Order: sequence, then structure tokens, then C-alpha cells
Amino acid sequence: MENKPNSRKGLFITFEGGEGAGKTTQINLLKSFLKKKNFNVVTTREPGGTPEGERVRKFLVSGKINSWDAYSEALIFNAIRREHINKVIKPAINNGLIVLCDRYVDSTIVYQGIAGNVEQKFLLELHSKYCYNLYPHLTFFLNLSPLKGMERVKKRVDQTENRFENLGLNYHTKVYEGFLKLHKESPKRIINIDADLNENLVAKSIYSHISKLII
Ligand code: TYD
Repeated sequence: MENKPNSRKGLFITFEGGEGAGKTTQINLLKSFLKKKNFNVVTTREPGGTPEGERVRKFLVSGKINSWDAYSEALIFNAIRREHINKVIKPAINNGLIVLCDRYVDSTIVYQGIAGNVEQKFLLELHSKYCYNLYPHLTFFLNLSPLKGMERVKKRVDQTENRFENLGLNYHTKVYEGFLKLHKESPKRIINIDADLNENLVAKSIYSHISKLII
């Protein structure tokens, strides 16, 4: 799905990719880049983004891998997203801000849908009925092989939020292939960024795409 930017309103930009692809680092670098250019920027994340969503996040990203099945996850991610859109994303866009969001609907399509076997039609319907069918203006898919991503994740100090990471390489290969598929289906919205480079080169490539939208 594509979404045309409205120049009078803000911009909604999401970051997607497998585990360890460097989304957080790139969101922070892009935020500084945009702030230097005097844009008002808000950063947020999913699951989470609101105090309520952050509380629910804890239960989703920690604990045993089979604590929730993929349908339950899909419903919960959508509930968190609806609150997030109502309380954070829509107000920010309407106030002319640039919203940088760590994961959004494409993660649900890929993790619960393609890797978790929930029908895509059901997920698209949930998004359309309960999340206003709101799509980002632009999405950066940070493309890193699942093997390399998992290697990076193992080195993290905080190992509590690792329920999804523990799903194994087979699952994460499906996640990776899922993001590639979404990029191929919506190449204008979902930009494929080579994330296997040093962070400044990855950031440069992101800036070049952003500049086309904001200048
Ligand atoms: P995140 O904090 O971005 O993890 P990481 O920084 O390790 O990439 O997201 C937490 C996990 O939630 C991540 O493993 C992917 C999963 N997730 C879904 O399965 N579906 C969704 O809709 C979202 C938003 C996240």
C-alpha cells in the first residue's frame, strides 16, 4: 500500500527489518539530522509508543516463545497500534511533525503473517477496520541477513526482551524473506537499505531518500 504525503501536514516514517538490523541507531541518527535542519521530530516505537502500550509490550517480548500464538499476537499488536495512532501518531502528523517509528504494520504482516502463518487478508482487514488503514509515507527496510542480525543480537547486554529472537533462524529467515517480499510489492513506500555497512554509510543512504521528501 502506498500513502501520498500531504505537504501541509507532517510525515510518518517507519523503520522495519529483522532483529539486530540497527533500527534504533538509524532512528537516532536521522532524528539529529532532521533536528539540525529545524524539523520538529518525534520518535516512537512498537510494540509500545503509549504508556499503556509499553506496559503490554513487556508481556509480548519476554517470556516463553509459545506464551502467545500468532493470532493472539496479531490482535494485541493491533490493539496497541490503535492506541498509538490515536494518542501519538495522528496528533503528531496533524501538528506538522515528522514521526519516526520503530516498527509498525509491516512487522505484523511479516512476523505474525508470513512467519507466523496468520492469513494476510485477516491482518489487512484488522489494519483497515481498527487502525484506520493508516500507512506510513515512507518505510526504511534495513536489510541485513538473519544470520548476521542474530549474531549482533547475541552481543546485546539486555537479554530480557528476547522472546521473538528465540524463535530461531528458520523463523527469522521467513521474516527476512517477508520484508523483501513487501519491498517488492510496494517499492516506492518501502525502501530497501543495505544495513550491512558501517552506520554512517547506512545513515547517508537514508538521508538521500528523506531529502527527496522534505525539500
Ligand atoms: P523491537 O523492539 O523492534 O525488537 P528489536 O529491536 O529486537 O528488533 O520489537 C520487538 C519484537 O516485536 C520484535 O522481535 C518483532 C516483534 N513484533 C511483531 O512480531 N509484530 C509487530 O507487529 C511488531 C510491531 C513487533
